[in-house]
Order: sequence, then structure tokens, then C-alpha cells
Amino acid sequence: MASIEMRNIVKQYGDGYPAVNDVSLDIADGEFMILVGPSGCGKSTLLRMIVGLEDITSGDMVIGGKRVNDLAPRERNLSMVFQNYALYPHMTVFENIAFPLRLSKTPDDEVRRRVNEASDVLELKEHLERKPANLSGGQRQRVAMGRAIVRQAEAFLFDEPLSNLDAKLRGQMRTEISRLQRRLGITTVYVTHDQTEAMTLGDRVCVLRKGKIQQVASPRELYEQPVNLFVAGFIGSPPMNFLPATLEGNALTTPFGSITLDEKRVAAVTGRELLLVGIRPEYFEDASLVDEAKRPVGSLFRARVDVTEWLGDSQYAYIPYEAPEAITAQLRDLSRELDSEELRTQAIVSIDSTSRIREGREAEFWLDSRKVHVFDPQTGENLTRDAEAGARLTQMATEDRVEQVQEAQASGQTVGSSVIDGPSGTSGPSGAHRSGAA
Ligand SMILES: Nc1ncnc2c1ncn2[C@@H]1O[C@H](COP(=O)(O)OP(=O)(O)O)[C@@H](O)[C@H]1O
Ligand SMILES: [Mg+2]
Repeated sequence: MASIEMRNIVKQYGDGYPAVNDVSLDIADGEFMILVGPSGCGKSTLLRMIVGLEDITSGDMVIGGKRVNDLAPRERNLSMVFQNYALYPHMTVFENIAFPLRLSKTPDDEVRRRVNEASDVLELKEHLERKPANLSGGQRQRVAMGRAIVRQAEAFLFDEPLSNLDAKLRGQMRTEISRLQRRLGITTVYVTHDQTEAMTLGDRVCVLRKGKIQQVASPRELYEQPVNLFVAGFIGSPPMNFLPATLEGNALTTPFGSITLDEKRVAAVTGRELLLVGIRPEYFEDASLVDEAKRPVGSLFRARVDVTEWLGDSQYAYIPYEAPEAITAQLRDLSRELDSEELRTQAIVSIDSTSRIREGREAEFWLDSRKVHVFDPQTGENLTRDAEAGARLTQMATEDRVEQVQEAQASGQTVGSSVIDGPSGTSGPSGAHRSGAA
């Protein structure tokens, strides 16, 4: 296992466009780091520079305390898992796991010892004589990880390994990867464009936009204290609502009535003509269902509901609103950049599943005004972010991780260190090696 440190990493492809633009990021030993962002933001490029498949234009890549910029992929002892698990269909599970050891001419009994140890941890013992095509997706993923474990490389590197799977399998695999990473305590870098994967898997998440880091934080900090409009809009599903607002006295005037701000927030947003207020769907509630005690901390407003969606455990209501052209244009751009389908001039409001609010009617809503964030529409900056509160959330996540890794080590589950790998070492997905049922 090793830490991975990146200092001012830049990647310019032939045409000079900086696909990765001055990225500095520290990944701790044993940490699960997610690189997330919309398609084309530079995630794969960054991952490929870590592993050595792409030259680094400038900056330092330091793995386990050693600068590796000029080392070949093999010398870095890192490798990647791709969307197909790159298993050999004609080989047994045992031989698939043993493959890197066979390549390096490891003696037979050592091969047996290491494969057995890995298959123990991976719960593959009963399947060692089977072929990949007869395994479930989850089992195949574990075989690929087993191959990585026996190689004892420095880290697991994943590039969108689940994006070809259906929703149900994706959910299962997510759990599987998360459980194993915890048990093995192996440094992991995982690329995805899916914010759900990012939020559920990572100790910390690095949000990229056009080659630049926006924010690196625990999922909870990203969700509760986003640095800007981009992160706020990207993290969370359904997404945060952005409403136009102007400050009058100590209250924001919005299409949904007036939202009173505390002194600190008023000071932070004063002096700007037009603002954007960010409100997550769950900050709303059907006013008739809110406790008397809670009512005064929020604000009430009436609105006509366009559509409702009842989901069993909760219910969404869609409320259209008017916004000035300057704002709608900006929100449209944001939606496009986030590959989002959401029409940003309708608010999505999450209300209790027992609510009798129905579409086509006017209803009274309550809004928890303590939680709203206020953004500068021009720069996208979150003007009301509480950096200290955010840092505390990430600190908590870090402590949890350290504890879990120690527990895993104490229970003897960790197996040296390792990486996911294809049959061809670090040379990428090779069409000839696809598992039959992939
Ligand atoms: N081999 C290449 N040559 C030139 N440009 C590339 C190459 N690979 C990627 N790019 C460009 O670099 C940017 C980042 O690409 P990539 O890292 O693949 O993004 P992501 O994995 O986030 O979707 C994109 O604009 C892409 O078009
Ligand atoms: Mg990619």
C-alpha cells in the first residue's frame, strides 16, 4: 500500500488543451478517493497519469514517497480495472487469479498459497475450478480483484468499472467493492461520472470540472457545504434547486416568498443585486405536516403544484417559477454542463409521502431557511459556505476510515497490498481477453 501525492499536475494533449489543469491532490495510504465530474472533465487522463499510461506534461507524481514521473507503468507497480474485467474465459478462476504470478514464474506452491489466501478473503474458495462465464458479475469482479491482490501492487485503480451494468447489478457491485476496500484497506482511486457512486463509495471525493479541482471533501461536506454552484448542482439527486433572489433588509425575496437570513449570512451576501439561492428538495415540507415547534425556524409560502410523484417512502412535487432571463440562461448552461435533464425553472420539492398536496392545486409549503445556501450568479461562488463546519464533517469521515482500516488490520484481513489488473499488465483493456459473458 502507498499514499499518492500529486503536485501541480498538468496534462496538455497535442492540441495544447489542458485536459488536466494544475491538479494537486493527496491520497492517504488506505484511502478510498473518488474522482468525479461530467464527461470530458479529465478524470481518465488523471488516472492514466497516476498509473503511467499517459505522460505528465508538468508537475510531480509521488507514490509511496517516490517521484514516479519517469517510471514505466510496471515499475510503479500499479494497475487498473476496466469496464470489462479482462478475465480469460478459457481459464479457471484459480488460473485467472494466478495469472500475474505465472507471468513472473513464481514457484507452484507459492502460487497456491497466495491464490488460496486471496480467495479466502474474497469468498471465492468454492469457485476456484469454475470458468468466468459461469460466475455472477459480482463474483467476476472479485476474481479481477483477486488477481490484483496476489500481485501485491500499491493501489487499486478503477475507471468507471460499473458503467456498463444494469442498475440492480451496479448497486450490488458498489456494495461489494466498498466492503472489500474496507476489509483490505488498500489505497483506491475510483473514477466515475455518477454522483451516487461517488457519494456512496468514497472516503473523500474530488470533484473535477474542465481539468480543474473544484472541491475535495467527504461526501457529507460536499453535500452540506459545497464551494460553488457547480458542486452544489452536481452532488445530490434530485438536484439542488436554484432560485433567483434579491436581498431586502435581512431577507431574500424569492419566487417562493421571503426567506429570512441570520446576520452572518446577510453580511456575506450584501452588496450584490441579484443572487441565487440554493435549496435542496428535502428542505421543503408540506406546511400542514410541520410541527408547531419547528415552524418559526423556516418560512411559509403558497404555490401551485404542477406535478406530483408518489414514491412510497416520499413524494416529489414540481413547482414552476418565473426567473429573469439572465438567470435562466445561466442555469441552462449549468444543466447542459452537468448533463442534467432537469428543467431548472421548476423547483423539485420533497414532501412526506402522507401529504395530500395534489397536482394542479395551490398548497402551502414550509421551507427550512437555516440550511439554504446563497450563490453569486456570476462567479458561482457559495457566499454562505461555512468552511469550518465543512472541515469538521470531513475530519469525521477521516477518523472513521482510520478506525476501519485499523480494525481490518487487527482482524488479519488485509492481504499485503494490491491492484486490479488485466492479463496484459498495465497496458489497458485488450479486446482479445474479454471474459465471455462480460
Ligand atoms: N488522446 C487524446 N488526445 C487529445 N485529447 C484527448 C485525448 N484523450 C482525452 N482528450 C481530451 O481530454 C479531455 C479529458 O478527457 P478524459 O480524461 O477522457 O475525460 P473523462 O474521463 O473525465 O471523461 C477531453 O476534452 C478529451 O477530449
Ligand atoms: Mg473517462
